[in-house]
Amino acid sequence: MKREQAKTRHARLVEEIRKHDHAYYVLAQPVISDQEYDRLYHELLDLEKDFPKLATPDSPSQRVGGAPLSEFQSVRHAVPMMSLDNTYSQEEVRDFVKRVQKLLPDEKLEWVVEPKVDGVAVSLRYENGVLAVGATRGDGTTGDDITANLKTIRSVPLTLVGTRSTASPTSKIRDAVESVPTVLEVRGEVFLPLVGFEKLNAERKSAGEEMFANPRNAAAGSLKQLDPKIVAKRPLDILLYGIGTPASGTARLGLLPEHAVPEAGAPQSQVELLNFLKSLGFKTPERTWFCKSEDELLAAIAKLDTVRKNFAYETDGAVIKLNSFEQQRHVGATAKAPRWAIAYKYAPEQAETRLHKITIQVGRTGALTPVAELEPVFLAGSTISRATLHNEDYIREKDIRIGDTVVIEKAGEVIPAVVSVVLKKRSGGEKKFHFPKTCPECGAKVSRSNQRAADILSADLDEKSGTASETLAARSEDEYAIWRCVNPDCPAQIRGRLEHWCSRGAMDIEGGGEALAALLVKSNLVRDVADLYELKLEAVVALERMGKKSAKNFLDALAASKARDLWRLLFGLGILHVGAGVAKSLARHFPTLDNIFAASAEQLTEAEDIGEVIAQSLVNWHGEARNQKLIERLRAAGLNFKSELYQPAAEAGPLAGKTFVLTGTLPTLKREEAAAKIETLGGKVSGSVSKKTDFVLAGDEAGSKLDKAQKLGVKIISEAEFLKMSGG
Ligand code: IVH
Repeated sequence: MKREQAKTRHARLVEEIRKHDHAYYVLAQPVISDQEYDRLYHELLDLEKDFPKLATPDSPSQRVGGAPLSEFQSVRHAVPMMSLDNTYSQEEVRDFVKRVQKLLPDEKLEWVVEPKVDGVAVSLRYENGVLAVGATRGDGTTGDDITANLKTIRSVPLTLVGTRSTASPTSKIRDAVESVPTVLEVRGEVFLPLVGFEKLNAERKSAGEEMFANPRNAAAGSLKQLDPKIVAKRPLDILLYGIGTPASGTARLGLLPEHAVPEAGAPQSQVELLNFLKSLGFKTPERTWFCKSEDELLAAIAKLDTVRKNFAYETDGAVIKLNSFEQQRHVGATAKAPRWAIAYKYAPEQAETRLHKITIQVGRTGALTPVAELEPVFLAGSTISRATLHNEDYIREKDIRIGDTVVIEKAGEVIPAVVSVVLKKRSGGEKKFHFPKTCPECGAKVSRSNQRAADILSADLDEKSGTASETLAARSEDEYAIWRCVNPDCPAQIRGRLEHWCSRGAMDIEGGGEALAALLVKSNLVRDVADLYELKLEAVVALERMGKKSAKNFLDALAASKARDLWRLLFGLGILHVGAGVAKSLARHFPTLDNIFAASAEQLTEAEDIGEVIAQSLVNWHGEARNQKLIERLRAAGLNFKSELYQPAAEAGPLAGKTFVLTGTLPTLKREEAAAKIETLGGKVSGSVSKKTDFVLAGDEAGSKLDKAQKLGVKIISEAEFLKMSGG
């Protein structure tokens, strides 16, 4: 075949496959058989083998082409990815409507209700109709570049569909591109359908791997993989519901909050946006409701609650959005969330089942947590056979007895809990539970002390669950008496510490889950986290159910973990009150681990968000000889003690303490460049103007932010002025 001919055929195949992917993965209406599809796909691969130049990034063959990365690059979002405020009752929804109405007096309000998909927020950037960058939300301003991973999701279009149809088949692609925006950032949620989640966990269980707590964690864990080939094996899916802003080029959509020049044909409302996204080939929520009154809104929320149980994925609420973009712009946003939208969280699902037995789990801080062993019951997407009973007092207060029929609930969708007893169903044969007076793991003494339940939950129950455990913790402000095993060499505590060290939130050592931690401790190979770095391949291979390949992978992962940023190590040590957030604050304020441990409690509190309790806990921890020894052994093993987050400029920079808002197009600096400059020089960039804003850096076509700055009397500066104050 000639080059020209190959090119034409290739373009035709790409378009065909794109159409079939769309039909199958987005619309769930396949038009050809799997065999026919495979034939097209293999023809494409063959052509690309003969003419490698045809394998451009938008070719379907490139969905799994990527080589493993060593780390993710950072991407700054053209417009910050915001979150949503939550409501939990009809009352709060009515209040929300009132608040919006107050900001738009006399205007008629219309609403869209969408399912709140319980997944991972991502942003997809298309340039000239081709997927260029896919990123995680990150901190809202900057996320990880996970393009290769997102490309593996078949419902993510690699190229956008042009709405215009064309006569000549060969010019189809080019024409399609011409009818879509030059730059388009779309936003949505990546999720793992329930069926895929169950299957994945079953596979992991049989491989002796750590299971995911819920579909959201599984989706998040998958997207974090550096090897797109692993991601390609996870049946991830995506729904798109929002839009960022074209950062450059013609703002064809007229959607920029500040470049608000509506263009004919561009979506002017959420309803139009969803249709627009659909027309470009994106998968959008399957059910949405358009509401013209508060009552319709509440009815839609109730309706969604009944239908969402049949969705293929988990939802944890409804998202209510003001329909008109004009009105959205008018209402604006706070620093974190839009004022024109809100999430309504459904009450956690409950189920009744029998409590067979109560066992005791010993966490990494020695806390004894009673666990209910239940008759397996299906609840909110998975089968539950264990639930937490929190502590001794909880069991007594609720009078929970062995043999009872109990109500369980998935709070935050992660750790199920027993919430009450169904007294009606008591037969009289139920038995009271007696809390053990010694550690069930090591037989050591247990001592009882008061502690906020929140501390225990966040410290012991699971670091794996991320935000969900924070939700749980936030709800448990009460003080509870906690029994703790006093033996620091208790195998359960050692296992817990190892598992925590290896967890994704801490040192992120793949393979170092519950199962391996247990084997390592049982075989006496490891007593503390420093021992991990002295492990020899032969010893690991000799462990039960450990293949040579997994053993090698684990040792490689350990070796790679030596270079992790300081905050991960600090968090991984599991010091009381030192969560990931605290560890990051410390790592921003101090350049090295030695500086942190050399600091007095008072000096520690100089770091942002570090109070006396945390500071004292750090000082106490380091005061113990065994902990000092541990640190020295980690140093000797070659672990990184230097902080990459440390920002000396943040204290000394010429823009220290100043908050900037960027708006409009600057003459020379790109928005990202200006923002990066501000941050390196110690300033902060915020997405919206408030009284706390020090400067609004305004360029051409600045819109509502400029108006607001003028209204509030915030200083407005040009790029030239900005460059002068930042030293050129
Ligand atoms: S709109 C500025 N719509 O919920 C508006 N978010 O709690 C931001 N989410 O970060 C989001 N389904 O990850 C929106 N239909 C939906 C959503 C949705 C799920 C997630 C999203 C967001 C989080 C906020």
